[in-house]
Amino acid sequence: MLKINILTLFPNMFDGFLTESIIKRAIDQDKVKINIKNLRDYANNKHNQVDDTPYGGGAGMVLKCEPVFEAVEDLKKKNSKVILMTPQGKQFTQEMAKDLSKEKDLILICGHYEGFDERIESIVDEELSIGDYILTGGELPSMVITDSITRLIPGVIENESKENESFTDNLLDYPTYTKPREYRGMKVPDVLLSGDHKKIEEWRKEEQVKKTKEKRPDLIKNRVRKVIGKYSLMDDTANKKMININIDGAYKFKPKKYDVNKVMLVEPSFVNKIAKKNLQKKLDTLMKQVEIVLNDETDDEGGNYVFGEIDRMQGLIITLYAQYLEPEYLSLVMMKLDALKKEIAIKEVERIETVNYNKKGRSR
Ligand SMILES: C[S@@+](CC[C@H](N)C(=O)[O-])C[C@H]1O[C@@H](n2cnc3c(N)ncnc32)[C@H](O)[C@@H]1O
Repeated sequence: MLKINILTLFPNMFDGFLTESIIKRAIDQDKVKINIKNLRDYANNKHNQVDDTPYGGGAGMVLKCEPVFEAVEDLKKKNSKVILMTPQGKQFTQEMAKDLSKEKDLILICGHYEGFDERIESIVDEELSIGDYILTGGELPSMVITDSITRLIPGVIENESKENESFTDNLLDYPTYTKPREYRGMKVPDVLLSGDHKKIEEWRKEEQVKKTKEKRPDLIKNRVRKVIGKYSLMDDTANKKMININIDGAYKFKPKKYDVNKVMLVEPSFVNKIAKKNLQKKLDTLMKQVEIVLNDETDDEGGNYVFGEIDRMQGLIITLYAQYLEPEYLSLVMMKLDALKKEIAIKEVERIETVNYNKKGRSR
Protein backbone atom coordinates (compact mmCIF):
# COMPACT_ATOMS: atom_id res chain seq x y z
CA MET A 1 0.00 0.00 0.00
CA LEU A 2 1.26 3.48 -0.86
CA LYS A 3 2.06 5.64 2.16
CA ILE A 4 2.09 9.41 1.68
CA ASN A 5 3.74 11.36 4.50
CA ILE A 6 3.04 15.08 4.48
CA LEU A 7 5.30 17.37 6.50
CA THR A 8 3.49 20.57 7.40
CA LEU A 9 3.30 23.35 9.96
CA PHE A 10 -0.50 23.41 9.62
CA PRO A 11 -1.86 19.86 10.02
CA ASN A 12 -5.43 21.08 10.66
CA MET A 13 -5.65 22.28 7.07
CA PHE A 14 -5.93 18.61 6.03
CA ASP A 15 -9.00 17.79 8.18
CA GLY A 16 -11.65 18.22 5.47
CA PHE A 17 -9.46 16.78 2.76
CA LEU A 18 -8.95 13.48 4.57
CA THR A 19 -12.48 13.00 5.82
CA GLU A 20 -14.59 13.43 2.68
CA SER A 21 -15.46 11.59 -0.51
CA ILE A 22 -13.02 9.45 -2.50
CA ILE A 23 -9.93 10.17 -0.39
CA LYS A 24 -11.73 9.14 2.80
CA ARG A 25 -12.97 5.95 1.12
CA ALA A 26 -9.48 5.11 -0.18
CA ILE A 27 -8.07 5.50 3.35
CA ASP A 28 -10.90 3.46 4.91
CA GLN A 29 -10.37 0.69 2.35
CA ASP A 30 -6.60 0.61 2.99
CA LYS A 31 -5.76 1.63 -0.57
CA VAL A 32 -3.57 4.44 0.70
CA LYS A 33 -2.16 5.61 4.01
CA ILE A 34 -1.83 9.35 4.51
CA ASN A 35 0.32 10.42 7.43
CA ILE A 36 0.18 14.12 8.33
CA LYS A 37 3.22 15.05 10.39
CA ASN A 38 3.64 18.34 12.21
CA LEU A 39 7.06 19.81 11.48
CA ARG A 40 6.94 21.52 14.84
CA ASP A 41 7.33 18.09 16.49
CA TYR A 42 10.88 18.16 15.17
CA ALA A 43 11.80 21.62 16.44
CA ASN A 44 14.82 21.11 18.67
CA ASN A 45 14.61 24.30 20.71
CA LYS A 46 12.49 25.23 23.69
CA HIS A 47 10.29 27.64 21.77
CA ASN A 48 9.42 25.10 19.09
CA GLN A 49 10.79 27.52 16.57
CA VAL A 50 10.86 26.19 13.01
CA ASP A 51 11.65 29.35 11.05
CA ASP A 52 13.97 32.33 11.28
CA THR A 53 14.91 35.57 9.54
CA PRO A 54 16.92 35.33 6.29
CA TYR A 55 20.67 35.93 6.29
CA GLY A 56 21.48 39.08 4.33
CA GLY A 57 18.15 40.63 5.29
CA GLY A 58 14.92 40.75 3.33
CA ALA A 59 11.27 40.05 3.86
CA GLY A 60 9.62 37.17 5.69
CA MET A 61 10.67 34.11 7.63
CA VAL A 62 12.55 31.12 6.30
CA LEU A 63 11.89 27.47 7.23
CA LYS A 64 14.95 26.16 9.10
CA CYS A 65 17.01 23.13 8.11
CA GLU A 66 16.87 21.28 11.44
CA PRO A 67 13.16 20.33 11.69
CA VAL A 68 12.96 19.34 8.02
CA PHE A 69 16.18 17.28 8.01
CA GLU A 70 15.19 15.54 11.24
CA ALA A 71 11.63 14.82 10.09
CA VAL A 72 12.84 13.37 6.78
CA GLU A 73 15.48 11.24 8.53
CA ASP A 74 12.82 9.96 10.93
CA LEU A 75 10.31 9.02 8.22
CA LYS A 76 12.56 7.98 5.38
CA LYS A 77 12.70 4.31 4.38
CA LYS A 78 14.82 2.58 1.74
CA ASN A 79 12.17 3.07 -0.93
CA SER A 80 10.99 6.59 0.03
CA LYS A 81 10.83 9.41 -2.48
CA VAL A 82 11.20 12.87 -0.96
CA ILE A 83 9.37 15.66 -2.77
CA LEU A 84 9.51 19.36 -2.02
CA MET A 85 6.51 21.58 -2.78
CA THR A 86 7.91 24.68 -4.45
CA PRO A 87 6.79 27.07 -7.20
CA GLN A 88 10.30 26.68 -8.61
CA GLY A 89 9.91 22.93 -9.20
CA LYS A 90 8.93 20.96 -12.30
CA GLN A 91 5.31 21.46 -13.18
CA PHE A 92 3.22 18.54 -11.91
CA THR A 93 1.41 16.60 -14.68
CA GLN A 94 -0.95 13.65 -15.04
CA GLU A 95 1.96 11.56 -16.32
CA MET A 96 3.86 12.29 -13.06
CA ALA A 97 0.75 11.42 -11.03
CA LYS A 98 0.67 8.03 -12.79
CA ASP A 99 4.32 7.36 -12.01
CA LEU A 100 4.01 8.49 -8.38
CA SER A 101 0.90 6.32 -7.82
CA LYS A 102 3.18 3.30 -8.36
CA GLU A 103 5.65 4.33 -5.62
CA LYS A 104 5.58 2.76 -2.15
CA ASP A 105 6.46 5.67 0.13
CA LEU A 106 6.32 9.40 -0.50
CA ILE A 107 7.38 12.27 1.75
CA LEU A 108 5.90 15.60 0.68
CA ILE A 109 7.42 18.69 2.30
CA CYS A 110 5.25 21.81 2.54
CA GLY A 111 7.05 25.13 2.76
CA HIS A 112 5.44 28.24 4.23
CA TYR A 113 6.17 31.94 4.71
CA GLU A 114 9.00 33.18 2.51
CA GLY A 115 10.17 29.65 1.68
CA PHE A 116 12.81 27.33 3.09
CA ASP A 117 16.55 27.24 3.68
CA GLU A 118 18.16 26.39 0.33
CA ARG A 119 20.12 23.52 1.93
CA ILE A 120 16.87 21.56 2.28
CA GLU A 121 17.08 20.91 -1.46
CA SER A 122 20.04 18.61 -0.80
CA ILE A 123 17.79 15.97 0.83
CA VAL A 124 14.98 15.91 -1.73
CA ASP A 125 14.63 13.67 -4.80
CA GLU A 126 12.30 15.98 -6.65
CA GLU A 127 10.88 19.51 -6.54
CA LEU A 128 7.30 19.93 -7.75
CA SER A 129 5.15 22.95 -8.51
CA ILE A 130 1.42 22.85 -9.23
CA GLY A 131 1.54 25.91 -11.48
CA ASP A 132 3.07 29.29 -12.12
CA TYR A 133 1.53 31.19 -9.22
CA ILE A 134 2.46 31.69 -5.58
CA LEU A 135 0.41 30.21 -2.75
CA THR A 136 0.86 30.94 0.95
CA GLY A 137 2.11 27.42 1.64
CA GLY A 138 2.73 23.92 0.29
CA GLU A 139 -0.38 22.47 1.96
CA LEU A 140 -2.72 22.98 -1.01
CA PRO A 141 -0.12 21.72 -3.53
CA SER A 142 0.48 18.62 -1.40
CA MET A 143 -3.28 17.99 -1.29
CA VAL A 144 -3.55 18.47 -5.07
CA ILE A 145 -0.74 15.98 -5.66
CA THR A 146 -2.05 13.48 -3.08
CA ASP A 147 -5.56 13.67 -4.57
CA SER A 148 -4.45 13.06 -8.15
CA ILE A 149 -2.16 10.19 -7.13
CA THR A 150 -4.71 8.50 -4.89
CA ARG A 151 -7.46 8.33 -7.52
CA LEU A 152 -5.02 6.48 -9.80
CA ILE A 153 -4.34 3.70 -7.28
CA PRO A 154 -6.05 0.53 -8.56
CA GLY A 155 -9.46 0.03 -6.97
CA VAL A 156 -9.94 3.62 -5.79
CA ILE A 157 -12.15 4.61 -8.74
CA GLU A 158 -13.45 2.60 -11.69
CA ASN A 159 -10.78 1.90 -14.26
CA GLU A 160 -13.09 2.94 -17.09
CA SER A 161 -13.29 6.50 -15.73
CA LYS A 162 -9.52 6.83 -16.18
CA GLU A 163 -9.25 5.48 -19.72
CA ASN A 164 -10.08 8.60 -21.74
CA GLU A 165 -9.78 11.33 -19.19
CA SER A 166 -8.01 14.53 -20.07
CA PHE A 167 -4.23 14.39 -20.56
CA THR A 168 -4.18 10.63 -21.15
CA ASP A 169 -2.27 10.30 -24.43
CA ASN A 170 -2.09 14.10 -24.63
CA LEU A 171 -5.79 14.43 -25.47
CA LEU A 172 -8.65 16.06 -23.57
CA ASP A 173 -11.67 14.02 -22.51
CA TYR A 174 -14.67 13.66 -24.85
CA PRO A 175 -17.88 15.67 -24.24
CA THR A 176 -20.42 14.07 -21.90
CA TYR A 177 -24.17 14.65 -21.49
CA THR A 178 -26.87 13.43 -19.12
CA LYS A 179 -30.68 13.72 -18.93
CA PRO A 180 -32.71 15.56 -20.21
CA ARG A 181 -32.23 14.91 -23.93
CA GLU A 182 -32.96 18.54 -24.66
CA TYR A 183 -32.35 21.52 -22.40
CA ARG A 184 -33.20 25.09 -23.43
CA GLY A 185 -32.99 24.14 -27.07
CA MET A 186 -29.64 22.37 -26.70
CA LYS A 187 -29.84 18.74 -27.79
CA VAL A 188 -27.75 15.72 -26.87
CA PRO A 189 -25.94 14.52 -30.07
CA ASP A 190 -28.00 11.81 -31.84
CA VAL A 191 -25.11 9.36 -31.94
CA LEU A 192 -25.13 9.06 -28.12
CA LEU A 193 -28.77 7.95 -28.23
CA SER A 194 -28.21 5.49 -31.10
CA GLY A 195 -27.13 2.53 -28.94
CA ASP A 196 -24.43 1.80 -31.56
CA HIS A 197 -21.35 1.39 -29.35
CA LYS A 198 -18.84 1.29 -32.20
CA LYS A 199 -20.18 4.54 -33.62
CA ILE A 200 -20.23 6.14 -30.17
CA GLU A 201 -16.61 5.16 -29.60
CA GLU A 202 -15.58 6.59 -32.98
CA TRP A 203 -17.50 9.82 -32.32
CA ARG A 204 -15.87 10.20 -28.92
CA LYS A 205 -12.36 9.75 -30.32
CA GLU A 206 -13.05 12.33 -33.05
CA GLU A 207 -14.45 14.75 -30.47
CA GLN A 208 -11.39 14.26 -28.25
CA VAL A 209 -9.14 15.30 -31.11
CA LYS A 210 -11.41 18.22 -32.11
CA LYS A 211 -11.66 19.52 -28.56
CA THR A 212 -7.93 19.24 -27.94
CA LYS A 213 -7.15 21.04 -31.21
CA GLU A 214 -9.48 23.86 -30.16
CA LYS A 215 -8.69 24.20 -26.47
CA ARG A 216 -5.15 22.86 -26.01
CA PRO A 217 -3.26 22.79 -29.34
CA ASP A 218 -0.05 22.58 -27.28
CA LEU A 219 -1.01 19.06 -26.18
CA ILE A 220 -1.43 17.95 -29.80
CA LYS A 221 2.02 19.30 -30.59
CA ASN A 222 3.44 17.25 -27.72
CA ARG A 223 2.17 14.04 -29.27
CA VAL A 224 5.24 13.98 -31.45
CA ARG A 225 7.81 11.33 -30.89
CA LYS A 226 10.75 12.30 -28.74
CA VAL A 227 13.61 9.90 -29.09
CA ILE A 228 16.32 10.69 -26.62
CA GLY A 229 18.87 7.96 -27.07
CA LYS A 230 19.77 5.81 -30.00
CA TYR A 231 16.87 3.47 -29.41
CA SER A 232 13.24 3.76 -28.45
CA LEU A 233 11.41 1.37 -26.23
CA MET A 234 8.15 0.07 -27.67
CA ASP A 235 5.38 -1.21 -25.55
CA ASP A 236 3.09 -3.69 -27.24
CA THR A 237 0.06 -3.14 -25.04
CA ALA A 238 -3.22 -2.17 -26.64
CA ASN A 239 -2.48 1.51 -27.16
CA LYS A 240 0.84 0.78 -28.95
CA LYS A 241 2.40 3.64 -27.08
CA MET A 242 6.07 4.17 -27.49
CA ILE A 243 8.05 4.73 -24.34
CA ASN A 244 11.19 6.70 -24.85
CA ILE A 245 14.23 6.02 -22.80
CA ASN A 246 17.66 7.41 -22.54
CA ILE A 247 20.27 4.87 -23.42
CA ASP A 248 23.62 6.50 -23.10
CA GLY A 249 25.70 3.56 -24.08
CA ALA A 250 24.13 1.53 -21.27
CA TYR A 251 20.68 0.00 -21.00
CA LYS A 252 19.25 2.27 -18.34
CA PHE A 253 15.55 1.52 -18.10
CA LYS A 254 12.97 0.25 -15.69
CA PRO A 255 10.24 -1.47 -17.71
CA LYS A 256 8.54 -2.35 -14.43
CA LYS A 257 7.53 1.24 -14.05
CA TYR A 258 5.23 1.17 -17.07
CA ASP A 259 2.69 -1.67 -17.25
CA VAL A 260 4.53 -3.32 -20.11
CA ASN A 261 4.10 -7.00 -20.89
CA LYS A 262 6.84 -7.31 -23.42
CA VAL A 263 9.53 -4.87 -24.37
CA MET A 264 11.26 -4.61 -27.68
CA LEU A 265 14.24 -2.45 -28.46
CA VAL A 266 13.87 -0.95 -31.89
CA GLU A 267 15.80 1.59 -33.81
CA PRO A 268 13.71 4.76 -34.28
CA SER A 269 14.54 4.83 -38.00
CA PHE A 270 12.91 1.41 -38.36
CA VAL A 271 9.74 2.50 -36.54
CA ASN A 272 9.69 5.60 -38.71
CA LYS A 273 10.01 3.54 -41.89
CA ILE A 274 7.21 1.15 -40.98
CA ALA A 275 4.89 3.95 -39.83
CA LYS A 276 5.52 5.93 -43.02
CA LYS A 277 4.85 2.91 -45.23
CA ASN A 278 1.68 2.12 -43.34
CA LEU A 279 0.43 5.70 -43.56
CA GLN A 280 1.29 5.92 -47.26
CA LYS A 281 -0.79 2.80 -47.96
CA LYS A 282 -3.79 4.35 -46.22
CA LEU A 283 -3.26 7.65 -48.07
CA ASP A 284 -3.12 5.82 -51.44
CA THR A 285 -6.47 4.14 -50.77
CA LEU A 286 -7.93 7.48 -49.73
CA MET A 287 -6.57 9.20 -52.84
CA LYS A 288 -8.29 6.62 -55.07
CA GLN A 289 -11.60 7.39 -53.35
CA VAL A 290 -11.00 11.14 -53.73
CA GLU A 291 -10.28 10.74 -57.46
CA ILE A 292 -13.49 8.79 -58.01
CA VAL A 293 -15.53 11.46 -56.22
CA LEU A 294 -13.88 14.34 -58.06
CA ASN A 295 -14.40 12.74 -61.48
CA ASP A 296 -17.93 11.54 -60.95
CA GLU A 297 -20.57 14.14 -61.85
CA THR A 298 -23.54 12.13 -60.66
CA ASP A 299 -22.48 10.75 -57.29
CA ASP A 300 -24.38 12.57 -54.55
CA GLU A 301 -23.29 10.48 -51.55
CA GLY A 302 -19.58 9.95 -52.25
CA GLY A 303 -18.50 13.53 -51.52
CA ASN A 304 -19.78 13.49 -47.96
CA TYR A 305 -18.43 10.03 -47.33
CA VAL A 306 -14.92 10.80 -48.57
CA PHE A 307 -14.92 14.12 -46.70
CA GLY A 308 -15.60 12.13 -43.51
CA GLU A 309 -12.87 9.64 -44.41
CA ILE A 310 -10.33 12.46 -44.78
CA ASP A 311 -11.43 13.83 -41.41
CA ARG A 312 -10.95 10.41 -39.86
CA MET A 313 -7.52 10.09 -41.45
CA GLN A 314 -6.51 13.45 -39.97
CA GLY A 315 -7.69 12.24 -36.56
CA LEU A 316 -5.60 9.08 -36.95
CA ILE A 317 -2.55 11.14 -37.83
CA ILE A 318 -2.93 13.10 -34.60
CA THR A 319 -3.83 10.19 -32.33
CA LEU A 320 -1.45 7.61 -33.75
CA TYR A 321 1.10 8.63 -36.39
CA ALA A 322 2.18 11.81 -34.58
CA GLN A 323 3.92 9.56 -32.07
CA TYR A 324 6.13 8.02 -34.72
CA LEU A 325 6.66 10.46 -37.58
CA GLU A 326 8.31 13.85 -37.96
CA PRO A 327 5.97 16.82 -37.40
CA GLU A 328 7.22 18.54 -40.59
CA TYR A 329 6.26 15.55 -42.74
CA LEU A 330 2.89 15.18 -41.01
CA SER A 331 2.02 18.85 -41.29
CA LEU A 332 2.56 18.59 -45.07
CA VAL A 333 0.25 15.57 -45.22
CA MET A 334 -2.32 17.44 -43.10
CA MET A 335 -2.15 20.46 -45.42
CA LYS A 336 -2.63 18.23 -48.45
CA LEU A 337 -5.66 16.60 -46.81
CA ASP A 338 -7.10 20.04 -45.97
CA ALA A 339 -6.71 21.05 -49.62
CA LEU A 340 -8.51 17.89 -50.75
CA LYS A 341 -11.35 18.59 -48.33
CA LYS A 342 -11.68 22.08 -49.82
CA GLU A 343 -11.74 20.64 -53.35
CA ILE A 344 -14.44 18.14 -52.42
CA ALA A 345 -16.50 20.88 -50.73
CA ILE A 346 -16.27 23.09 -53.85
CA LYS A 347 -17.24 20.14 -56.03
CA GLU A 348 -20.22 19.45 -53.77
CA VAL A 349 -21.43 23.07 -54.02
CA GLU A 350 -21.09 22.94 -57.82
CA ARG A 351 -22.99 19.67 -57.94
CA ILE A 352 -25.86 21.06 -55.87
CA GLU A 353 -25.98 24.20 -58.05
CA THR A 354 -26.15 22.04 -61.21
CA VAL A 355 -28.92 19.89 -59.73
CA ASN A 356 -30.91 23.02 -58.80
CA TYR A 357 -30.29 24.57 -62.20
CA ASN A 358 -31.46 21.42 -63.97
CA LYS A 359 -34.55 21.25 -61.79
CA LYS A 360 -35.40 24.86 -62.62
CA GLY A 361 -34.80 24.19 -66.30
CA ARG A 362 -37.14 21.25 -66.24
CA SER A 363 -39.89 23.11 -64.37
CA ARG A 364 -39.85 25.99 -66.86
C1 LIG B 1 4.97 32.05 -0.41
S1 LIG B 1 5.65 30.54 -1.00
C2 LIG B 1 7.36 30.94 -1.18
C3 LIG B 1 7.67 31.45 -2.53
C4 LIG B 1 9.16 31.72 -2.74
N1 LIG B 1 9.59 32.86 -1.99
C5 LIG B 1 9.41 31.97 -4.22
O1 LIG B 1 9.18 33.09 -4.67
O2 LIG B 1 9.77 30.99 -4.94
C6 LIG B 1 5.64 29.52 0.38
C7 LIG B 1 5.60 28.03 0.12
O3 LIG B 1 4.39 27.70 -0.52
C8 LIG B 1 4.57 26.57 -1.37
N2 LIG B 1 4.12 26.96 -2.70
C9 LIG B 1 3.67 28.18 -3.10
N3 LIG B 1 3.29 28.18 -4.36
C10 LIG B 1 3.47 26.92 -4.83
C11 LIG B 1 3.27 26.29 -6.10
N4 LIG B 1 2.81 26.95 -7.13
N5 LIG B 1 3.58 24.97 -6.20
C12 LIG B 1 4.08 24.28 -5.15
N6 LIG B 1 4.31 24.84 -3.94
C13 LIG B 1 4.01 26.12 -3.77
C14 LIG B 1 6.03 26.21 -1.29
O4 LIG B 1 6.19 25.14 -0.39
C15 LIG B 1 6.67 27.47 -0.77
O5 LIG B 1 7.85 27.23 -0.08
